[in-house]
Amino acid sequence: MKLVRAKDYKDMSRKAANFLSAQVILKENSVLGLATGGTSEGIYEQLVDWYRKGDIDFSMVSTVNLDEYVGLDGSNERSYRYYMEHHLFRHINIKERNCHLPDGMAGNLEEECRRYDRLIERLGGIDMQLLGVGENGHIGFNEPDEAFEQMTHCVWLKESTIDANARYFASREEVPRRAITMGIKAIMQARAIVLCASGKRKAGILKRVLCGPVTPEVPGSVLQMHPRLIVVADAEALGE
Ligand code: F6R
Repeated sequence: MKLVRAKDYKDMSRKAANFLSAQVILKENSVLGLATGGTSEGIYEQLVDWYRKGDIDFSMVSTVNLDEYVGLDGSNERSYRYYMEHHLFRHINIKERNCHLPDGMAGNLEEECRRYDRLIERLGGIDMQLLGVGENGHIGFNEPDEAFEQMTHCVWLKESTIDANARYFASREEVPRRAITMGIKAIMQARAIVLCASGKRKAGILKRVLCGPVTPEVPGSVLQMHPRLIVVADAEALGE
């Protein structure tokens, strides 16, 4: 594991964006695994800035996002598709057909999960996976459970995740209860992982993820087994 210490959120964003940018510069047709959420926003802002300055070319890049809420379509401002368009895709020269997220509106969710697994396989797997971590240890929407779920699957969100994500909705009631998420297997098969964390809120869980026992009760703890894990965290997140 490589640990990169950042001063604060801005510094974390720039340092994490550096790894993604280096990946794309070294391999122009990289497959990037992407995350949404507050942690990733600054990273995308930095990448857009470097793209505008002519430093990165996304024309041959493909992306696969970790997850999407069930029941929200891409025009819904709370959907992860909308988030990605808003924070990254529409600002860079990535091709629309190369930007992939699970379809939360799919009629047959089980089939959609299988389609997503096949898609990742067809792309040749993920070169670099960006991850945030939930305060309960989730990665993607792989929630704490009794076993590591391997493949893309549908989940019921834990109450703690609904609470954490309510800040993006008008009320807690509006937070979808279900989501589709990439499984632990696809995440662990990524050739490199960049796990990011910022702020005091993440200090307790980051310690458990990086130093605690590897257990499905803390899904992120599985990352300890990854041969190329890069952790980029700021001073507050590393506080414990
Ligand atoms: C989002 C995702 C989640 C977030 C996690 C942290 O696509 O997969 O696992 O990375 O919930 O969220 P923030 O960054 O908002 O604290």
